[in-house]
Amino acid sequence: MDIAVIGTGYVGLVTGVGLADFGHDVICCDNNEEKIAALNQGKIPIWEPGLEQILERNSSRLKFTTDLADAIRSSRAIFIAVGTPQNADGSANLEYVDEAARSIGQYMNGPKLVITKSTVPVGTGRRIANIIEQAGTPHRASIVSNPEFLREGSAIEDFMKPERVVIGADDEAAVQLMRDIYEPLHSLDTPFVVTNVESSELIKYAANGFLATKISFINEVAALCEKVGADVQDVARGIGLDKRIGILFLQAGPGFGGSCFPKDTAALASIAKQHDSKFRIIESVMEVNDAVKQRMVEKTIEALDGEPRGKTVAVLGLAFKPETDDMRDSPTIPLIEGLQKRGVKIRACDPAAVQNAEKIFDNVAYFHDAYETAEGADALVIATEWNVFRTLRLEKIKSVMHVPVMVDLRNVYEPHRVRAEGFTYFGVGRGAEVPAPERV
Ligand SMILES: NC(=O)c1ccc[n+]([C@@H]2O[C@H](COP(=O)([O-])OP(=O)(O)OC[C@H]3O[C@@H](n4cnc5c(N)ncnc54)[C@H](O)[C@@H]3O)[C@@H](O)[C@H]2O)c1
Repeated sequence: MDIAVIGTGYVGLVTGVGLADFGHDVICCDNNEEKIAALNQGKIPIWEPGLEQILERNSSRLKFTTDLADAIRSSRAIFIAVGTPQNADGSANLEYVDEAARSIGQYMNGPKLVITKSTVPVGTGRRIANIIEQAGTPHRASIVSNPEFLREGSAIEDFMKPERVVIGADDEAAVQLMRDIYEPLHSLDTPFVVTNVESSELIKYAANGFLATKISFINEVAALCEKVGADVQDVARGIGLDKRIGILFLQAGPGFGGSCFPKDTAALASIAKQHDSKFRIIESVMEVNDAVKQRMVEKTIEALDGEPRGKTVAVLGLAFKPETDDMRDSPTIPLIEGLQKRGVKIRACDPAAVQNAEKIFDNVAYFHDAYETAEGADALVIATEWNVFRTLRLEKIKSVMHVPVMVDLRNVYEPHRVRAEGFTYFGVGRGAEVPAPERV
């Protein structure tokens, strides 16, 4: 099928490249000229493992352009994958989606399948249909919601082997076209959830809301662990092995961040408000998350003996999670800015996110690796659990630090092992003084 993807960011680029791998001819379109110029020179504008190889493999079926009119005219199916950032009131900003819909209405030259991949509030499918209609086109647009569940860092695998494909549509022909687009997934027995547009739109927000709830829940448990002398790692495992709960997403840490959870929880609360109801759980989840981020600043200050002014903190990891360069809403932002406000000097490193971090922070000194970063520091903060930070040579780190203090915001290390190396150790929710017998 001839397919256009509008928006060539984290989701649009992976979608375009993945669909080309499924055998379709794909035009990836973006109004950011720099991005398209880079892609046309074979340069990938984002850090995503495996993306480069799969792009190269499918280059004959891929085109990158800023010519939206041509992309729309040449395609039977058009995916909208533009950003939906957060408005000041928490609602989703639909200006880019609206603009894409207006362009489709303006340039369409035949029947088109218009598929929303962006995460959009319930009712956006109707809104897109109205915008296209208002353009006065004589052609029919079938509107489909097809939310994306990929995770940055494993986006290729998630797109090529999804746990489910959700399709929201109002007519059978549109559903059939979607099944054709995802044909290779049928042989993998991928479950398809076929429903109406509204349910599909809500599925995406409900999924992210639920996952964010798990994170805030375990972070509240972690706070309690610190007070009662329990270890959150053991508590998480002890509850997570119950299949009804599940072990994933029960990792206590510095709070959720990234390009999705913060804005999607806010949007979900906003959708509820717009319909005269209150999503109490989600509102608490956001409140807890804000408090957790603040708690991490306080924890680090406690590690500096409560006297932060003039001290130096080495921050390992800046991206909101490993294997991405994405800094959007990273928990390191309130952490670093909170520490700087209290007079702390920051040294930092990250395997992929430094370029993006430089656009956010003032007065942060960047280094290539953990050992350089730790030089002269009064505390070492493990902020993102990249693999390289899981296997630090602690004696070497200790030898370059001013004071050997570790603040392990990702609970990567066993407290007693780090203490045995001569460090003062602070984890998240690790209140147990006595180490547990070796975990089985
Ligand atoms: N990043 C993720 O992990 C993820 C996962 C699932 C869903 N989503 C959702 O997918 C959507 C896109 O997210 P993203 O992270 O890829 O965003 P992004 O900011 O990386 O990419 C959006 C792209 O759209 C382009 N764009 C905006 N308006 C345009 C227009 N009118 N014409 C052409 N291009 C236009 C921008 O230049 C940008 O390159 C969001 O709704 C997000 O919530 C993201």
